[in-house]
Formats: sequence, structure tokens, C-alpha cells
Amino acid sequence: MKQLSHTGAALAGTIDLGDLTVNRLGFGAMRLCGDYAWGRPRDRQHVNRVLHRAVELGVNFIDTADSYGPEANESLISQALYPYPPGLVIATKGGLVRPNRGSWVPDGRPDHLRRAIEGSLQRLRLDRIDLYQFHAPDPNVPFTESVGTLADLQRLGKIRHIGVSNVTVAQLEVARSITPIVSVQNEYNLRNRTSEEVLAACERLGIAFLPWYPLGGKRGLRAQRIKEVASRRGLTHAALSLAWLLAKSPVMLPIPGTRSIDHLEDNLLAAGLKLDPEDLDDLG
Ligand SMILES: NC(=O)c1ccc[n+]([C@@H]2O[C@H](COP(=O)([O-])OP(=O)(O)OC[C@H]3O[C@@H](n4cnc5c(N)ncnc54)[C@H](OP(=O)(O)O)[C@@H]3O)[C@@H](O)[C@H]2O)c1
Repeated sequence: MKQLSHTGAALAGTIDLGDLTVNRLGFGAMRLCGDYAWGRPRDRQHVNRVLHRAVELGVNFIDTADSYGPEANESLISQALYPYPPGLVIATKGGLVRPNRGSWVPDGRPDHLRRAIEGSLQRLRLDRIDLYQFHAPDPNVPFTESVGTLADLQRLGKIRHIGVSNVTVAQLEVARSITPIVSVQNEYNLRNRTSEEVLAACERLGIAFLPWYPLGGKRGLRAQRIKEVASRRGLTHAALSLAWLLAKSPVMLPIPGTRSIDHLEDNLLAAGLKLDPEDLDDLG
């Protein structure tokens, strides 16, 4: 196994999610399923190794959702890591369903969310979910009803903390008027910064911002400005992109995902990187 010149995720510092504290570089488990986050992986033992290596490298925040697989992703995590090491926070999401491989359909109806959380608790082998995120607003259901249902489930002891995902600043405010919100998960990376205002709101509120698609895909990693700074610093494009996110805001909690142990180790290098002002200027 490759030796790293650092001690892993802890070097990124920590962030609070309500009364929980996690290292500021997490792991997104979505891609451990089959392609398109659909079905089961071809090699379960390999998935176990990736998850164990992430924990070994200090990752204590893993993001999943009931719609990854669907359902398979949460089971992969519990099969690999249960009984969970102390301090590991597993964040899951509900509110999207997958009628087929290519569809992600919002379902924010209270009945659906109540059923969804029971399924997640069972698959993750938990009595309470540390962070339950409403995956996306459902245009056919009042947002207040969906978030209100999660608040009820929190009062029943099934959820410790609530987060929201794919929201605007206005939706975040509506959610916060119903119940405390500890995190927002929106797409954000060097190439796509459309959630800049949501990030600024999280900073003002002191709550975590989880950028999904943090590497920005192949096109993001090939962007010219990344190439230039990465070659000057002798870094991989992925490690540089993640170091940029970590430098961008103290509330940033990136959740890069991979099926490769080499890529996982590369991504974790970002935790200990300090970019200088010239790097940050060049990255824009
Ligand atoms: N809330 C939402 O609506 C939403 C939507 C999408 C995702 N998410 C969450 O966000 C997490 C991350 O998002 P994501 O998986 O879409 O994007 P990502 O983490 O930015 O990118 C993952 C992709 O990049 C590749 N990769 C990872 N590390 C690499 C490295 N060091 N060098 C080169 N390629 C690398 C992976 O392929 P290899 O496997 O080959 O490394 C994979 O194809 C997901 O796991 C999920 O938990 C949330």
C-alpha cells in the first residue's frame, strides 16, 4: 500500500455539524455502486477495501443516499464498516426515487419520506441517522411539508441533524424557519460556481457546505488553469481542485468519490496542501 507523507483527512481541519465534529475532507460513496449509481458493484471486496482505506486515512464523514443503487449504496457501507468506528458520521439522503437507471425523480411527500427513513435506518443498521439530508425539493409537494416531516422524524429520535440539498438561499431560509439546518449540499467546483450565494449564506450562518461533484468531471479536471497550477506545484489535478475548495471557505466539506484506492489516496493529499496566493489568483 502506498505510503503517504501526511496523516490524512485530519490535516484539513474540522467542521461542526451541530454537536458532531468531522474532518473537513469526506468521502462520497455514490460511485461505489454500479455505473450511473445503479445496481451493485462488480467487486464487493474491492469496495470494502476502498471504504476501509478511507477510514484508515482519517475520513470520518461518508455521504450516501437511499437513491444510490437504489438502496444498494447504504448496504455496501454497513456491510463494509459495521460496527462503525467511533466518530464515523454517515450522512444519507432521501427524497429522490429511481424508476430506472437514467431517472432521478423527486418525491418529497411526507409518506414517502417516512418510509424512506425507515429503509435507511435498516440498511445502515442504525437507530438514528446522524445527518439526514432532504435530497432535492419536490416541485409537486410544498417544501415546508417535506422539511416539516423531517423535523417530525427528528423529534421522534430518528434523525440527529437535518441538512438540505440542491436548494436556493430562499429555500434554505424556509427550511431554517422550520427546524435547525446544519448543512447544505449543492453542486460546486472550480468550473461550476452557481451556488456561490448559497455558499456565502452557509458562511454567514456558520453551517457546512458540501460541494457535490467537487472535481467537476473530466472537463473540470482538464481545465487549462488547473493544468498550469498543477504542473507548477507538481500536484495532480484532482488534489489541486480539492485543495482549492478547502481554501475557498472554512465551511467547505468536500465529499469526493472514487472506486480507486490510488485516486482516494491522491484526493486525501489535498487535506495537507496549502495553496499560496499566486495559486489561488491563477485558479480564479
Ligand atoms: N446531492 C446531490 O444531488 C448529489 C449529486 C451527485 C453527487 N452527490 C454526492 O457527491 C459525491 C461526489 O460527487 P461525484 O461522484 O458526482 O463527483 P466527484 O467526486 O467530483 O467525481 C467522481 C469522479 O471522479 C473520478 N475521480 C475521483 N478521484 C479522482 C482522482 N484523484 N483522479 C482522477 N479522477 C478521479 C472518479 O472516477 P474513479 O472511480 O475512476 O476514481 C469519478 O468518476 C457523490 O459520491 C455523492 O455522495 C450528491
